Amino acid sequence: MVEGRVLVFLVLLGCINAAKRPNVLVLMVDDLGYGDVGCYDNVTIKTPNIDSLARDGARFTQALAAASTCTPSRAAFLTARYPVRQGMSGGSLGREVILFTAQKGGLPQTEVTLGKVLLEQGYNTSYVGKWHLGVSCERYGDNCHTPMAHGFQYWYGMPMTNVKDFGDDGESVVSAQMPNFFRYLYAVLSGSCLAALVLRSRSRFLFFLMMLVALVATLILLFISCSKIFNSMIMKNGEVHTFLATVPEFRGKSRHGLYGDSVLELDWAVGEILSELRRLGLADDTIVYLTSDNGGHLEERGVAGDVQGGYNGPLRGGKLMGAMEGGIRVPTLLRYPPLVRPGTTIDAPVSLMDLFPTVLSVAGIDMKSTPVGDRTLDGRDLTPLLTGRADRSPHEFLFHYCTDVVHAVRWMENASTTWKVQFYLPNWLPGTERCHFACLCSEARRLETPLIYNIQQDISERRPLPVGSEQYRRVLERCQRARDEHLAGVEAVPDQLTWSQFIWRPSLQPCCTLPYCTCEDPKYPQPY
Ligand SMILES: *[C@@H]1O[C@H](CO)[C@@H](O)[C@H](O)[C@H]1NC(C)=O
Ligand SMILES: *[C@@H]1O[C@H](CO)[C@@H](O)[C@H](O)[C@H]1NC(C)=O
Ligand SMILES: *[C@@H]1O[C@H](CO)[C@@H](O)[C@H](O)[C@H]1NC(C)=O
Repeated sequence: MVEGRVLVFLVLLGCINAAKRPNVLVLMVDDLGYGDVGCYDNVTIKTPNIDSLARDGARFTQALAAASTCTPSRAAFLTARYPVRQGMSGGSLGREVILFTAQKGGLPQTEVTLGKVLLEQGYNTSYVGKWHLGVSCERYGDNCHTPMAHGFQYWYGMPMTNVKDFGDDGESVVSAQMPNFFRYLYAVLSGSCLAALVLRSRSRFLFFLMMLVALVATLILLFISCSKIFNSMIMKNGEVHTFLATVPEFRGKSRHGLYGDSVLELDWAVGEILSELRRLGLADDTIVYLTSDNGGHLEERGVAGDVQGGYNGPLRGGKLMGAMEGGIRVPTLLRYPPLVRPGTTIDAPVSLMDLFPTVLSVAGIDMKSTPVGDRTLDGRDLTPLLTGRADRSPHEFLFHYCTDVVHAVRWMENASTTWKVQFYLPNWLPGTERCHFACLCSEARRLETPLIYNIQQDISERRPLPVGSEQYRRVLERCQRARDEHLAGVEAVPDQLTWSQFIWRPSLQPCCTLPYCTCEDPKYPQPY
């Protein structure tokens, strides 16, 4: 089972009639790294279908996700707003992302997604694939956070993400993070049982205490064992449907293990969709946008220690490292023949949050007249860049968050100079540039002396500006001021990932058939 990088297709198909508005097809891949595909210089993986989007449209060399991990990045992508504005930026220790389907937090109803606006404008909308932005609020079935509550008429996909525990090879996220976790848990369990036995006739209190310890250990074990049943599922319009499957046809087909195989599968799937568009005669009326929610996950390993995460090419760092290019700079392509000349390369820094306003602009929808008209949007219209009328980024600054803390600031001083100031660095293991299983934002180190890179000339972040130089002082001062002004303008909103929102709630647990919570899609039967 290849975890964490199942592709995701968010599809918005427009009405082909009337005002000749474009159809919109968004392909968001999970954890795809900057160096994973052919059109981003990977010569050992063949991705002809993805490359065709670059050949026929625009390739962005500096497209940046709003966060270095799924949940906040996707929240920002769909709303064109930094995740802090929705309470989706996450907090400490694992609260960076939604972890259970039975968790109360999620993308708030008050947010307006691209789907919601397009639906209101008469589009037909659907969402296929990974959501990872919450399920229910008060009881299972209210679906308050799901795609259906956010403007999508049809949803078929995973409420969560694909994680190690969902496979059949015995892997688990918990043991990947803490290799001895299960050993300790079993030791505690057997130790407390043994102690209870010995203490039974000596001390009633200690006996019950030991029994309690054993009970808690058993519950933890049960909870983790059930994680697949509780969280690995596909929903159709909010009803639990089936377990996940992997396609065996691509196993062993690449030179890069399971991960490479899934990149090949991804490329095949993109090819199928593109040829269906051509078959329907929609290829030239459709904006096709392909991107990744964050950079490749460097620490991801299989049971045998094989690399199972993406490759970030020349970039430093990876997923969950909010200040590093490898965490946030992602492969991004846009094909739309009426506007974009084939083979366009766009080097100006852009954000994934820009897609939303860009689509509205191409469709001729006046933003002010829509429900997003009343709020701060962080995304910008990219049509001037796409058509070649402009070569500068529409952003003067971009803020690179890790949870609700700005770890780095990007300053587009002019068309040829972009600075990046790092205020934090990931808490790497000594002598390496990675963490154990994943770097946590909360464990990042604040730098006494921030690092500044001329990111256009130094893509790998290896040659910081000399500290104390005139240039260093000037850039630091400007970026600090921009960050402080930006933060002062961010309104406080309820945090969707506090501990109380975060804990598992039985009343929210999706369960298709009692008592085992398992079922099958008759169309795709699984050997479970
Ligand atoms: C191509 O991508 C694979 C899969 O991530 C990676 O292992 C490999 O190093 C990349 N090769 C090149 C030449 O970039
Ligand atoms: C498209 O949207 C309209 C109105 O919202 C709805 O009646 C129709 O069933 C939708 N079509 C599809 C194919 O979803
Ligand atoms: C852009 O900014 C850099 C750094 O301040 C400066 O050296 C350069 O001359 C500027 N370029 C243009 C075209 O203004």
